[in-house]
Amino acid sequence: MKALILAGGKGSRLRPITYSIAKQLVPVANKPVIEFGIEAIREAGIQDFGFIVGDTAQDVMNALGDGSRWDAKFTYIEQEAPLGLAHAVKTAKAYLGNDRFIMYLGDNLIKTGVKELVEEFRASTSDALILLTEVPNPSEFGVAELDGDRVVRLEEKPQNPNSNYALVGVYMFTPAIFDAIDTLQPSFRGEYEITDAIQALLDSKKDVRSHIVTGWWKDTGTVEAMLDANRLILESMKHRVEGDVIESRIAGDVTIEPGAKVVNSLITGPAIIGTNCLIEDSTIGPYTSIAEGTRISNASVEFSIIMNECTIENLEATLFRSLIGRGVVVKRARSTPTSICVVLGDNSTVEIP
Ligand code: G1P
Repeated sequence: MKALILAGGKGSRLRPITYSIAKQLVPVANKPVIEFGIEAIREAGIQDFGFIVGDTAQDVMNALGDGSRWDAKFTYIEQEAPLGLAHAVKTAKAYLGNDRFIMYLGDNLIKTGVKELVEEFRASTSDALILLTEVPNPSEFGVAELDGDRVVRLEEKPQNPNSNYALVGVYMFTPAIFDAIDTLQPSFRGEYEITDAIQALLDSKKDVRSHIVTGWWKDTGTVEAMLDANRLILESMKHRVEGDVIESRIAGDVTIEPGAKVVNSLITGPAIIGTNCLIEDSTIGPYTSIAEGTRISNASVEFSIIMNECTIENLEATLFRSLIGRGVVVKRARSTPTSICVVLGDNSTVEIP
């Protein structure tokens, strides 16, 4: 069995971060979000990975390499335009050949992993197996109607959904999906929808089964979801302190990487402090990830993701629910207390009390 991971897309809801970093490479607990998916698929015993890449192809390739880090083989497949998930599968047809495959949206996270799902599909004779979860807002997703575990109807982002079962971004297919894709017309949003392709399988009397996810699932497409994914992953991490902790207090489960230095500070877990960070006279956490080489002094940071090589210093207010890109400086101004001095890229957001 092969894996097809979707690692294209513009990440427009994560701007400005995604102007300079692929959305699948934004770190959650200091690790690019896509790596959690790779690990989950590797745990299911799959070694052959194809990645659909778009505008950010070079970044993704530089970050993930040839797969040897995971004892796997990575192939990169360029999608010339973002024409939808079904179009992405079609683009990978030559790579996928006659193999069955798992398709995984590269910015999705699933608590339970995919091992059980892959085993279920390996043992079954069905033509597709889709992952579903109950959501309060099904109109924002692909929605499935079921008869037991059998899927009877699917609709992409229905206005009047007939069930609360949303399609999670993980699908298992046989090569039968290619014929289904060939029958598609673009949807209301101008894309070739994988949901429509699965409906086409049903229309041609193919057997499509479902698997309901019970643990959490996150599509990390927005800042809110990204921060929440960070919280969930941090909550699952064990206490590990390998950096220097000097006259500081560490409460709860905290990861402090080798080469990090924490001085006269309070770190409340769950939290992670990356390699070569310097944290001085500060309060960090809970639910906070500080990436490699960032320096924080005389500041307080909570429920946030701070990427590498940032400088944060002398803040009066707590930095809260924030997602901060690489090399950012946030510091107290020397100017009068009523003025605010900023250099912000396109689509940045600043909330001022
Ligand atoms: C895509 C699929 C949708 C699915 C969702 C899961 O939606 O089209 O069926 O429920 O992923 O994240 P999109 O993120 O492209 O709006």
